[in-house]
Amino acid sequence: MMEISFPDGFLWGASTAAYQIEGGWNEDGRSPSTWDTFSKLPGKVYHGHTGDVAADHYHRWREDVSLMKQLGLPAYRFSFSWPRILPAGTGTINPKGLDFYDRLVDELLKNDIKPFPTLFHWDLPQVLEDKGGWTNRETAKHFADYAGIVVEHFSDRINNWITINEPWVVAIMGHLEGVFPPGVQDQGMAASAIHHLLLGHGLAVQTMRAVARQPLQIGITLNLSSVESATKSPEDQKAAHTNDLHLNRIFLDPLFLGKYPDEITTTMGFIFPEGYEKDYPTISTQTEFLGINNYFRNVVRFNASIEPFHYETIQPEGSTYSEMWEFNPNGMYDLLIRLKRDYPIKAIYITENGTAITDGVDADGRVRDSRRIQYLQDYISSVHQAIQNGVPVKGYFVWSLLDNFEWAQGYSRRFGIIFVDYENNCKRIIKDSARWYSQVIRQNGFKL
Ligand code: NOJ
Repeated sequence: MMEISFPDGFLWGASTAAYQIEGGWNEDGRSPSTWDTFSKLPGKVYHGHTGDVAADHYHRWREDVSLMKQLGLPAYRFSFSWPRILPAGTGTINPKGLDFYDRLVDELLKNDIKPFPTLFHWDLPQVLEDKGGWTNRETAKHFADYAGIVVEHFSDRINNWITINEPWVVAIMGHLEGVFPPGVQDQGMAASAIHHLLLGHGLAVQTMRAVARQPLQIGITLNLSSVESATKSPEDQKAAHTNDLHLNRIFLDPLFLGKYPDEITTTMGFIFPEGYEKDYPTISTQTEFLGINNYFRNVVRFNASIEPFHYETIQPEGSTYSEMWEFNPNGMYDLLIRLKRDYPIKAIYITENGTAITDGVDADGRVRDSRRIQYLQDYISSVHQAIQNGVPVKGYFVWSLLDNFEWAQGYSRRFGIIFVDYENNCKRIIKDSARWYSQVIRQNGFKL
């Protein structure tokens, strides 16, 4: 038998995001976000699903905190909704927006659950998108102002903060692939969005520190993957190298090494806004940790017909898969080891990891999601192995606390450790995986 035991003080938690769980989309003065607009356009989201109701957390927050308490969850990662707090994107504060999060945060603290919030998890106020969104430098400044308002209000009670969640997805899926809002396909706009997201992060860190009521632990959350070449052929290896630049290094290098990789700025068609180098000191402002979201590895091969970069990621034969991605816990290990090798990062939190698998309510009312348990056990073991090998991972958050709106896939994908019965008033049912996770938390590990 093998004992997987985590260091004392290791922080266990679960994650969600505002648009994916809250609903209450037009209540108490909230203005529309880009996701409200996008999800209502025909053909953009599976079966036309929207976040109008989502998991109805806006009304069920108290029950949700009590479920967290029941599971013994030490920390909860959620996101603040920018359009709830600043319906005009900037300027006048909506007190009812702050009230909602005041109630939530106070209830968490009352139950000894550490709030670990994200300031921007993709729900940009539509009014700012109408002025160019992340392709407009002003948005970075507005983000820093918004971050300052939230931190000024909540930093008496909260000391861990994530600025931005997965800027790659916002920039690339939103502005190059066009499958997420604002639905644009233009590499120049994508480059501009990348740069302004990074700038927004740096400016926000500075504003947050200036207004904080206690010393803060601040980080950004990136979606990162280990990258492998499909074969040993030079073409495939080059393709893997390029994919690593596009997914990982394009964010990691400016944040932790102070500049974009040379290949990115010279030969790959990413034209950043004029004078971008002047922003490097702001972008690389010191932070306390890096948040990483990891679900899968990238296996990459050359393919001449795919524009503009001539590569594709493939699902290798012989692997096992969830409804969305490959199960590959070693990929998590490789990624963590690589981060320690290549970057001066003091602390890492796994801010998301989890899996979408078909699960459902059995005749006795139980949700037996055993494949999720297996997935979590394997990935958490990889995290443990990385810690044993010196990677400073300080915490792990499962995605997600609740089944929720999985963006372009709508409600067709369930990531929750708590089941949400959408047909039945969003009734919650604790899945087997949540009971298993609760035990892991209690024992600070598990036996294999
Ligand atoms: C990353 C995102 O941050 C989250 O919003 C999403 O639901 C999960 N991954 C699963 O795709």
